[in-house]
Amino acid sequence: MAAGPVSAERAGRPRGRLGLPRAHFRRLGSTNEHARALAAAGAPHGTLVTAAEQSAGRGRQGRTWSAPPGRALLCSLVVRSLPRLLPLAAGVAVASEVGATSVAAEHARLKWPNDVLIDGRKVAGILVEGRPQEGWAVIGIGVNVAVRPEELPAELRERAGTLGLTPAAIEPTLARLLERLEEWLEAPDAAILDAVRARDALLGRPVSWAGGSGVGAGIDDDGRLLVATASGRVALDAGEVHLGA
Ligand code: BTN
Repeated sequence: MAAGPVSAERAGRPRGRLGLPRAHFRRLGSTNEHARALAAAGAPHGTLVTAAEQSAGRGRQGRTWSAPPGRALLCSLVVRSLPRLLPLAAGVAVASEVGATSVAAEHARLKWPNDVLIDGRKVAGILVEGRPQEGWAVIGIGVNVAVRPEELPAELRERAGTLGLTPAAIEPTLARLLERLEEWLEAPDAAILDAVRARDALLGRPVSWAGGSGVGAGIDDDGRLLVATASGRVALDAGEVHLGA
């Protein structure tokens, strides 16, 4: 596993700023939606919204995100410091926590830009939304901490995974994840890129996207996905990439 960045403590920055104030809901439409409203109304850096259940969980690319009630970590964090590689930094933080928690032999991998996979199955997803011009973003994170595979919708069962823990593990997972986010959101670009590259699930693998297909060829210094295609190397900076031709 890649080494962590210089800790905020050692660098003289205060710890524990993330996660307060916190609003927790037994059931909510979407923690991202709620956190966005709080951010737009001036909520401070570190504000956290969590829910045991979402009725309208949102995923990337306009998809929905569903999880059985009380079995997943569902949280959204308001940040007012926006590192250039924010989505990748969030992905590394989540992957490092998931990799440390999981009983799976293989450490967690990142499918660009920030899906977290164990043994090829997605165990965590991240949706970063924001208004950079207003100086805020919301990092929405869903981790299948205690989800039982049979509880997942049939269409997800093939591709989704779980940490296989109990619901009691959700809160401690959140606490550790906030510490990891604290570190990785302050990390230098080079450390983030090293960590992403060390976990790159697409390297050397066939990939396809709306505009073409090729073989994953790494991550460039701007955090873009490089793909070797029949007509040369391309760099993708947004969108959805699928594993497999
Ligand atoms: C994805 O992989 O498509 C991103 C999924 C992000 C899901 C989380 S769950 C908590 C937060 N609230 C939402 O509505 N979405 C994110």
